[in-house]
Amino acid sequence: MVMKTYIVGNWKLNFTVGEASIYLHKLLKALPNYRDTEVVVAPSTIALQPLSLQVDRHKMKLAVQNAFYRDYGAFTGETSFSQLRGLADYAIIGHSERRYIFREDDKMVAKKVAAAIRNKITPILCIGETESERAFGETADVIRDQLIGGLSEVSDDDLDKVIVAYEPVWAISSTKAAKIATPDEIAEVVKLIRKNLADTYGEKHSEQVPVLFGGSVNPSNAGAYLTVPGVNGLLIGGASLILSEFTDIIETAKRVRA
Ligand code: PGA
Repeated sequence: MVMKTYIVGNWKLNFTVGEASIYLHKLLKALPNYRDTEVVVAPSTIALQPLSLQVDRHKMKLAVQNAFYRDYGAFTGETSFSQLRGLADYAIIGHSERRYIFREDDKMVAKKVAAAIRNKITPILCIGETESERAFGETADVIRDQLIGGLSEVSDDDLDKVIVAYEPVWAISSTKAAKIATPDEIAEVVKLIRKNLADTYGEKHSEQVPVLFGGSVNPSNAGAYLTVPGVNGLLIGGASLILSEFTDIIETAKRVRA
């Protein structure tokens, strides 16, 4: 089975509902029906409901950036994955901004991954080391802990419902001194991710997991990142806010696969 290429735009805390709707309208107009490329955008939660009525799911899908792991109850201010069922097809979980600004640990990430699967939403589990963890030679440990910790509530049979995104924190453009990751640096960590998955779940299950890369992806580096062995797609922040850059990256994905 040929794996799809995933191009996921993480809009973070940007765009009003109206702006998001206009962007989506233009994106849908620009997008032909790419069978092998799964295009996804993650708007703010408040925009998901109207956008879910507007989106053409033959062309692209929607993701939620975050939700709570309990389905209902006394959790003031939260939105549950069960409420998002049918609105979002994917969920970004464990993004470094959630881990470091909102103090989410691997246990919470694991519960969110399980809640997404339980509600038929595909989790995109984000993992990645900080600059100092890399400098201290801790990358392999951090990757293993975040990966295996984040998947700790996922059964072998459900592993094919999960996507993993490698996002080195030092390469994300929202960090103060974002650097660009080289294809070799990415290849090395993606190999580690696949080895950890194979060791824990077996070769057969681990091969089914798409692994994305994210961190300062733009139209000029997307092609190189998409050809890194073991990479099945991209998670894009800043460049996904600019329609022409996002569609450029989608075109690149199509070209790289051809
Ligand atoms: P960036 O963000 O592309 O702006 O670096 C990526 C992300 O945080 O997912």
